[in-house]
Amino acid sequence: MFINLIQTNLTTTVLGKNIEHYSWTESTNEDAWKLIDDGTVEGTIVITDKQTDGKGRAGRSWISVQGKSLTASLIIKPGIDSRLAGFFPLLTGVAIVKAFAELGLDVKLKWPNDIMVNNKKLGGILCESRVQGKVHEWVVIGMGLNINEKENELPDELRATSFFMEKSSSIQRELVLAKIMNHIEPLYVELNKNKDPSQLMALWTEYCNHVNKTVKFEVENKSLSGKFMGLNTDGAAIVKTNGNEKIFSSGDMHLIQS
Ligand code: BTN
Repeated sequence: MFINLIQTNLTTTVLGKNIEHYSWTESTNEDAWKLIDDGTVEGTIVITDKQTDGKGRAGRSWISVQGKSLTASLIIKPGIDSRLAGFFPLLTGVAIVKAFAELGLDVKLKWPNDIMVNNKKLGGILCESRVQGKVHEWVVIGMGLNINEKENELPDELRATSFFMEKSSSIQRELVLAKIMNHIEPLYVELNKNKDPSQLMALWTEYCNHVNKTVKFEVENKSLSGKFMGLNTDGAAIVKTNGNEKIFSSGDMHLIQS
């Protein structure tokens, strides 16, 4: 990946002014935490062409295809209170939907952080944070997106798709990343300033592909089916089952009925 190609497409004032590029690495999220320990600045992005030990949600691993996937981590220092912490994956998801819309691909969101096209996964977000007192001192936003992979390059069992598979044309990963950053920054500035996630939640709900649909939640080996009602004021999922509303702030969710 070319740093200058990302930077010429950026319209941000903070995000992406500093970019660290590794031709290969184990995990860009892990690299981001090392850079934070070494005193890096907010807005730094870590990118790689080959990630060998990518981390997914819930301790799973994440597979990236060399030279084809977009594999990046963004470092931010929000200083906002912990109540708003759950909104970073949602904020990033909204920014990704907006970026792909500009590139002619209609993507949707699956709670909490999957990027979907027709119920196939195009990518995922892994947000990690370091809290000091009640304040989120540093947040690392990891993004793994399938961009130029062909069908035989993605494992079948993942039910995954890529930009290339959907559009039959490839695209510069640098442009996709710049567009995502261009959308993250205003959403983040707004959240930090107003401390009010309601506008963000409305956008997330608009882009979600399973509001009012039947879903199955799996948390700690238990599963529960119900209707996905939307987000509560903390960004957690509200699921209605037998007339009762249950709140899920973590776990895996599957769409059962479309
Ligand atoms: C998921 O499980 O859906 C989230 C996947 C997040 C993967 C990205 S790739 C870049 C960054 N570095 C990592 O090790 N993980 C995230």
